[in-house]
Amino acid sequence: MRAAIIGSGYIARVHARLIGELGGEVVAVVGRTLGAAQAFGIGRAHDNVEAMLRAEKPDVVHVCSPNTFHAEQSIAAFRAGAHVLCEKPMATSGDDCRRMIDAADQAGRVGAIAYCYRGYPLVRELRRLVRTGDFGELWRVTGLYLSQDVFDPEKYVWHFTPGLCGPSYALFDFGVHWLDLVQYISGRPIEEIFARFHTRRRERTWRGGTGQGPMPPGHPDSTGGVAVDFGLEDQADIVVGFGGGASGGATIMGLSPGNPNHIAVSMDGEKGGFDWLQEQPNSYVERRLGRKIVRDKDPDRLQPADRWTSSVPGGHPEGYLDAFRNVIAESWRGMKGETKDFPTFGAGLCGIEIVEAAVKSANAGSTAAVTDSGPSFDEAFPFTA
Ligand SMILES: NC(=O)c1ccc[n+]([C@@H]2O[C@H](COP(=O)([O-])OP(=O)(O)OC[C@H]3O[C@@H](n4cnc5c(N)ncnc54)[C@H](O)[C@@H]3O)[C@@H](O)[C@H]2O)c1
Repeated sequence: MRAAIIGSGYIARVHARLIGELGGEVVAVVGRTLGAAQAFGIGRAHDNVEAMLRAEKPDVVHVCSPNTFHAEQSIAAFRAGAHVLCEKPMATSGDDCRRMIDAADQAGRVGAIAYCYRGYPLVRELRRLVRTGDFGELWRVTGLYLSQDVFDPEKYVWHFTPGLCGPSYALFDFGVHWLDLVQYISGRPIEEIFARFHTRRRERTWRGGTGQGPMPPGHPDSTGGVAVDFGLEDQADIVVGFGGGASGGATIMGLSPGNPNHIAVSMDGEKGGFDWLQEQPNSYVERRLGRKIVRDKDPDRLQPADRWTSSVPGGHPEGYLDAFRNVIAESWRGMKGETKDFPTFGAGLCGIEIVEAAVKSANAGSTAAVTDSGPSFDEAFPFTA
């Protein structure tokens, strides 16, 4: 694949590395400034998406820019005839996601979302066990996504600049991964949500450092910093109800000290349950009445169609980059028409619709129904036993 990357920050570097590992070529990178793209040091440097698309004609565009640009940049890529692998969150509104889906359909191209945590072999194993009824009728789905990313009161990220992140912070930055994982594993849609939001640190100061984005609206103080009143949630507590009757919830937080990426998924059904932690992704605890069994990654236990996700034999750990590479690989196969089992734009829209319902719920103080305006759940989260 001849790939172009839009964005030149943290996640753009991860994509560049994995594109190379998969035998692709990064032909171009688009930065907010030409200097940023040049400093990236891989691919031809650009500072204009349309001009890059005309000049480079990439097969696929990896959209790794701040959230608010995902929709227009993806739509431009489809119009130029490229496929799109878009970072999460897919966009900042359901309306924008639907425009992206329409643009992909009109162009006859495929859009995928970088839901990287799906790529762990044991997430595949758990998906098969849950979806084929090994734990029986599902009752409880709970978990966490705790990060310390913005715990430091001195830290400023572009998400704090009004308009760059969308109507939610914690759920868009961390929560969409958890919401995707539990629907992917369970095979059941989240249909309703009750959310309570807190903003624990309201005052943030932009100082123009790396990763802080352009100067936010406001007046620079005597030190050159701009004070921003951050109004989005940095802690979200949610209660969710699934189609089929399972229920549960999660806390999603960007201010949890000592927790860089603590993602927990725990489910119980009428025949058993499991607990999985992203920080130890090569094992999970299977629970039956009176028994806890630690299951280590064992490629032989994977469904034949999922064995490729384990790139090394049992006893050798798979990591974040392996999982991420798997998701890019299956997305590219989806673009070539070889599989439907990849994180679809339908799944991306689904996550945004849940966050929109959460924002509605938090504002109203009551449970909100999740709009379901995209492809069917089975199309968005395909699975073959
Ligand atoms: N899949 C994951 O687990 C994961 C992890 C981190 C980030 N992300 C997502 O990736 C996106 C980028 O996050 P990041 O952590 O790399 O942020 P970052 O701040 O490290 O990088 C953002 C980059 O976008 C560039 N940029 C800003 N405006 C632009 C524009 N108009 N056109 C092109 N480039 C522009 C910036 O110069 C910067 O290089 C976000 O949507 C984020 O949610 C996903």
